This record gives sequence, structure tokens and C-alpha cells, in this order.
Amino acid sequence: MASVTSLSDSVHQRLAAALSAALPQAGSADPLLRRSDRADFQANGILALAKKEKANPRELATQVVSRVESGDVIKDVEVSGPGFLNITITDRAITENLAARYADDTGRLGVPRTEHPGTTVIDYAQPNVAKEMHVGHLRSAVIGDSVVQLLEFTGETVVRRHHIGDWGTQFGMLIQYLEEHPHELDHQDGGDLQASGEQAMSNLDRLYKAARKFFDSDEEFKTRARRRVVDLQAGDPQTLAMWQKFVDESKIYFFSVFEKLDMEIRDPDIVGESGYNDMLAETCRLLEESGVAVRSEGALCVFFDDIKGPDGKPVPLIVQKSDGGYGYAATDLSAIRDRVFNIKADTLLYVVDARQSLHFKMVFETARRAGWLNEDVKAVQLAFGTVLGKDGKPFKTREGETVRLVDLLDEAIDRASAVVREKAQDLSEEEIAERGTQVGIGAVKYADLSTSANRDYKFDLDQMVSLNGDTSVYLQYAYARIQSILRKAGEARPAAHPELDLHEAERALGLHADSFAATVAEAAAEYAPHKMTAYLYQLASLYTTFYDKCPVLKAESPEQIENRLFLCDITARTLHQGMALLGIRTPERL
Ligand code: ARG
Repeated sequence: MASVTSLSDSVHQRLAAALSAALPQAGSADPLLRRSDRADFQANGILALAKKEKANPRELATQVVSRVESGDVIKDVEVSGPGFLNITITDRAITENLAARYADDTGRLGVPRTEHPGTTVIDYAQPNVAKEMHVGHLRSAVIGDSVVQLLEFTGETVVRRHHIGDWGTQFGMLIQYLEEHPHELDHQDGGDLQASGEQAMSNLDRLYKAARKFFDSDEEFKTRARRRVVDLQAGDPQTLAMWQKFVDESKIYFFSVFEKLDMEIRDPDIVGESGYNDMLAETCRLLEESGVAVRSEGALCVFFDDIKGPDGKPVPLIVQKSDGGYGYAATDLSAIRDRVFNIKADTLLYVVDARQSLHFKMVFETARRAGWLNEDVKAVQLAFGTVLGKDGKPFKTREGETVRLVDLLDEAIDRASAVVREKAQDLSEEEIAERGTQVGIGAVKYADLSTSANRDYKFDLDQMVSLNGDTSVYLQYAYARIQSILRKAGEARPAAHPELDLHEAERALGLHADSFAATVAEAAAEYAPHKMTAYLYQLASLYTTFYDKCPVLKAESPEQIENRLFLCDITARTLHQGMALLGIRTPERL
């Protein structure tokens, strides 16, 4: 039995039992327990219950107190105010509970898995072929990766889908140009992934611009390019082979960026728009036959009562254009069918920019009408806000161009390396470079994850790599400092001593460490990595207070030294595990 019941759950159970003993007719009632400044926990549920049962709240509270089983876990329960309960936990229970977490040899710190896990398909990290990645793609990748880690940690089966933009009429132009200039995608082989990625993107970029120029100025080229689109859609083998070259070239670039982001993206999980080509006609047929979609001016459309344009006319979701072409909506609807009926998911999660919310609203509603989504299968867009520059406007270069993601990451790594170098005492150049990368990438991820996803956030590198405040660097230093104490401890090993009285700062730290499991559950259930960042920041802050108030290696007795080392170590393990769930490294030395 590796999973550990948290103190708040134990207290909750005891209070609920006392409540129903005091008021049997109320059935099972929620004592509404939360952490409190005045005591360890406060229960507020009695007020509402007394009101419902027409009882006097203070009297009911007193009844409950007399029935609470106290001793091993609960040291003291007091009625306060109109009928709140203040609950204090024994020092022994705090230490024993942490010791049980510490003993969990699966590395899960006693965090239980959810009772009824399901299957979630998560659609994230979806850049577009032959295009540079930008900050929007960063958000989807970073948030998505953390949600994957959180869900998997709770025991959910997670299927990842990278819905890359690899289809569309622009490929006609690209393929035609490549056909006429066959060496444009050639590589000088031999570089590492980063170098090949750079080269791949610069090839694609150059080719894209050149093709565009021809397309806009040369009518005959335009005609040839249009014919290519038709060939591509008809599945002409030679055209498809050329298309594949663009996809492969882009993947070299994508993988180089994901590697830089220290993120595992697997090739089989990349199922782009083109992956649903075979399903498009069938999707349209099903929608048309069921009457969900209707023909309007030749196009196949779905209408919604509440979605109208500025002119008051309804704006439909176009599933098939009047020229027979399929677009983004048909692909997403087909992907839903695949994810529901083939993958058998019960949750479809889309980590996509909030500016696509209307699209998803219409797509989900269409799928519901078609019966593909229902009470058993839900779809959710985890919509994220825009990345802003320091000036509060959408993030652009001084020339007004979109910022290249790679440049941004490189700059973050440079800044972080400078911070690491300045603080470094015994690190080699190689170590500084490695730590600089871990700190820089961590800083970018943390800044992205620590604001709730739906809000816009300012991309401010100075703030991100700051050692003070709510940053990943602060957490990484807290972790590294603990490791250094553990190294300095020499012979003394961390060990729990439940018989010892705890300092106030030790209790606060211990109680917070205990609520890690609740935080994981909440962050996963709500797809809210920012709840984890807030938790970890609080943990590091409580650790700092503990460290200021309670000498560790110079504590009063050998037992107290061991117990404090144990508190240090459990804090470190919690930081490490929590950061891993955010996709952020915790170097042992900084
Ligand atoms: N490739 C798209 C973009 O860059 C995002 C795809 C989102 N996923 C989806 N299933 N539509 O905006």
C-alpha cells in the first residue's frame, strides 16, 4: 500500500463521522474543511447544516466537538465564532504522515491514483509545416506537456495528438516551386539536431518566400500551382512524395525545437490534418444525411441560433466548400470521430489559442448534434491567452514581425546562464552551460504555467530569470540548496523522529508538504498547472522560513538533526516531483 491518506482527509473523515453522529437525520454532511491561519484547519460546514436542520449552530458545534475522536491525529478541536471549528493536529501525526510519504518507494510520495481513470486524448503542440514556430505554439506545447504529466500521474490513460497543419492549398505552390527548383531542400549533412533544425527551417523559409513571390507575380506559375493542389488532393504519388519532403523537413525543425524545450514529442503521436483525409467525405455524408448539416449556396453548412455575424446573419460552420474542398472544420470533426470511436476516449482536450474558441464551440456543438459527443464523451478546449510584450501589446519584434520561438529560447538560455555564472561557486564551464539551459527553459515554462492559461501574460525575461519572487529559478535554487545541506550532513542521515516536538515553522512546512496529493488531484482535474506552481512557490517560501528559524546541522540533538534533514529531504523530493509535473528540471547543484 504505497498511497498515503493525507492529514486533511483523516481529519475530514473524523469530522464527518462526528457530524453524522451528532445529527443522524442529516445523513452524510460535508464539514467543509480548509487550512487556516488560526489553527491548522478550520471546518465551516456546521453553519449551513444547522441552518438547514433548524438547529443552533454553536450547540451543534459543541455536540460535534464532544464526538470527535481525538488523540492520535487531532490534538484539539475548539468551537469558534458563530459555529466554526478550529482543529489542531498533533506533531506526531505530522511527522508520521510525512514519514509514510517518505517511505513510498515508488517515488510518488504517497499520492494516490484516481479511482476511476479514463482515457483522454490531448491535442497540443501543433505547429504548422513549412512555417516558423511562434510564441502561441510555445504555450500550447508547454501547457499541454504539463497537463499530460499531471494526468498520467493520476493514473489517466493519455493519448497525445499533435494536430500539425500539414495540409491545404498552400502546398500546391510549395510543391510546384520545389519541382521547378529541385535542390532547394538539400542538406549539408553531419550537424547535430539543433544545427539541422536551423538549416531545415531556413531552407523552408527561403523556399516559402520564393514560391510566394512567383505565385503573386507569375500567372502561369499560379496556374501550375493550382493544378498541383488538384493532384495533391487526388493523391497523385509523385506530388504526395514531394509533399512528404516538406513534412519531413519540417519535422527535423520541430524536433529540434522540442529538444530545446526539453520536451518529449514522439513521432507516432504526430497525426496532422492530413491524417484524416480518408475520413472527410464520410464525415460530410454522415452530417448531411442526419440533417445536422445542410447545403447552402453549394456549401455544406451547420447553423447555430446563437452565432451571428455583425450584420445579424447567422455565421455557419462550413464543413465542405462549394468547390468541394474540405477545410479545418471537416478535419477537426473527423478527428473527433477517430478519437471517440477508434481511440475510445472519454475526454477530448484541446490546448489551443483562445482566438480559436468560436471554431471549437461550433465543432463541438456539431459533434454533439451528430451524437459523437454526449454525456459519456466530453470535449474541452483548454483555451490559452495571448503572449504580450513588455508594452502589453501582442508580442512582436521591433520591426513588427512575429518573434521566432528559437530566438526567444536562446535569449532565455543566455540570460539564465549569466545568472548561473554569477552565482556559481564550483561549476565548470560545461556545467554552467547545462544549468543555464535548464534554468532558462525552466524560466520560460514556469512563467507560462504560473498564470492561469486563459489569461494573457507578459513575456518579460528580466522577471522570468529573477532569483526573487515567483519564478522557477527561485524554486530550483531552493532545491539545490537543500541538496547542498544534505551533502554537508556527512554521517548524519535524514530520519523521522515522531516523538519530537515541532517548531511552528516545521509544522507549517509539514502540513503544506502533506497537501501535495490534493494539489496534484486538483491541478489535474481542472487542467490547471498554475495551481501546482502556486503550491510549489508556497512550499519553497515555507522552507525558507523554516531554514531561517530552525538550524538544521546545528540543531539541539542528533535526533533533531536527523528529523530536520528528513524535513529538508521530503521538501526537496516534493519540489522535484512537482517541478517534473511542470516539465521543469531541478539540477542538484546550482
Ligand atoms: N495548427 C494550428 C495552429 O497553429 C493549431 C491546431 C489546433 N488543433 C486542432 N485540432 N485544430 O493554429
